[in-house]
Amino acid sequence: MRLLALSGSLRARSSNGAVLRSALTFWDGPAATADIGALPHFNPDLDGEDATPPAPVAALRTAAATADALLLVSPEYAHGVPGVLKNALDWLVSSGECVGKPVAVITASPFPTGGDHANVQLREILRMMSGEVVTAACREIPAIGPKVDPTTARLKDEATLTDLEVAMSHLAAAAAAAAATTAPLPTP
Ligand SMILES: Cc1cc2nc3c(=O)[nH]c(=O)nc-3n(C[C@H](O)[C@H](O)[C@H](O)COP(=O)(O)O)c2cc1C
Repeated sequence: MRLLALSGSLRARSSNGAVLRSALTFWDGPAATADIGALPHFNPDLDGEDATPPAPVAALRTAAATADALLLVSPEYAHGVPGVLKNALDWLVSSGECVGKPVAVITASPFPTGGDHANVQLREILRMMSGEVVTAACREIPAIGPKVDPTTARLKDEATLTDLEVAMSHLAAAAAAAAATTAPLPTP
């Protein structure tokens, strides 16, 4: 099972980046992180049948198309989804790589809300894109600051790590189930 992870934070010392890196340690298979900061602003004029998508867009679409599951890990800005992540998702709306794909949405925040607004919004966006939002794999992580080890740039909070492992196991199970339903039937 191949996983593609997208982070909604471009910050070098991002706490969501730490969550993402920790989550990947619980994924038993190949995993990649998309460089969504390199994407141009979404513009329908650059998209569609008569247009060749910019190289970073083509790379994102290929990575998404070949993934069995998606993991979105993001902060919340002004009670919303960070523009860089919404931009990346906008590039994937009409090309369809998210259709039927199991997706986990994890938000982390220094506040007690855990980025709940952005989490809800991301789930809605993914559902609109016909992704399979795996509710059991979604998490809102509150008070993220002291849960991150700045030396390793990963989570150090044991309870959060344990819960993250559970979340990732739900995503893996959904990916396996989706792969089983799309696999060709064996010839008799
Ligand atoms: C412009 C701005 C707006 C923010 N708005 C919110 C918000 O609405 N809700 C929230 O939980 N945190 C908010 N935060 C705090 C972020 O959650 C915090 O900076 C977080 O560490 C960013 O994630 P990162 O560490 O992965 O970069 C905001 C931060 C900035 C800079």
